[in-house]
Amino acid sequence: MADSDPAVLKRAAALKALDFVTEGMKLGLGTGSTAEAFLEVLAPRVRGGLRITGVATSERTAQKARDLSIPVADLDALAPLDLTVDGADEADRDLNLIKGGGGAHLREKIVAASSKRMVVIADKSKLVTRLGRFPLPVEVAQFGHATTAARIANVAARLKYAHVPLTLRIRDGAPFKTDGGNYIYDCGFGAIADAAALAAALSGIPGVVEHGLFVGIATALVIAGEEGVEVIERK
Ligand code: A5P
Repeated sequence: MADSDPAVLKRAAALKALDFVTEGMKLGLGTGSTAEAFLEVLAPRVRGGLRITGVATSERTAQKARDLSIPVADLDALAPLDLTVDGADEADRDLNLIKGGGGAHLREKIVAASSKRMVVIADKSKLVTRLGRFPLPVEVAQFGHATTAARIANVAARLKYAHVPLTLRIRDGAPFKTDGGNYIYDCGFGAIADAAALAAALSGIPGVVEHGLFVGIATALVIAGEEGVEVIERK
C-alpha cells in the first residue's frame, strides 16, 4: 500500500477489522474519524444481510450509525458485547492506549470493558514507543473542577512528572462538555513511564470521572501504514 493519505490508511485499518466481525455479533462502536471509517465499511455488509447490533460510544456515533442504517441498542440491553472496534489517539505495542481526543473516552471505556474483545484501528501515526506525546484527556465533574485539576497536578508531582500543563478543553469559547455533561482537562504528562500506575492514581482522585488511559483493555491493534496493515495481538 503506497498511500500515506490518512483517510486511505484509516479505511484500510477499518476494512481489516471486518475480519473480526461475524454473524450475530453484539458490537461496540467507537468514536472518532477512524471509528467512523469502520461504520462506513460495516454498513454495506449490514445492507448485504450481515446481522449485528451495535452499541454506540457517543451521540455522534449513534447518529452516524442510524444514518447508515446500522442497528443500535442500549448497552444495558446487550451486554456483554462480543467485540468493540474503536480508534485511539496513541497506542503502544503492549496495547496500552491514550483515548479521549474526541471527548468520548468515558463511554468508550465502559463499552470496551463490557466487550470480550477490543480491536483498535489506527493509521501508523498513532503507534508510539511510549505513550504521552498526546496530552492525556481527563474527564472531571464540573463541580469543583479547578480543585480536581489541582489534585491531578499533585498526583503528577508525586509520580515525578515535571511541568505537566493542565489545559481545560475549550470549544467555541466555552468549556467543552462531554456527552455526560462533564469537563475535560488535557494533561501534558510527556513520556508516561508506567501507564498502569498513572491510571490507578488518576482513578483515585475524587472528581475525576474517567481518564483516557486504556491499560489491559485492547486485545488487538490494527495499524495501517504505507507498507501494509499490521495486526498486533495481545500476547
Ligand atoms: C474519542 O474520544 C477518541 O477516543 C477517539 O477514539 C480518538 O480520538 C481517535 O480519533 P480519530 O480516529 O479521529 O483520530
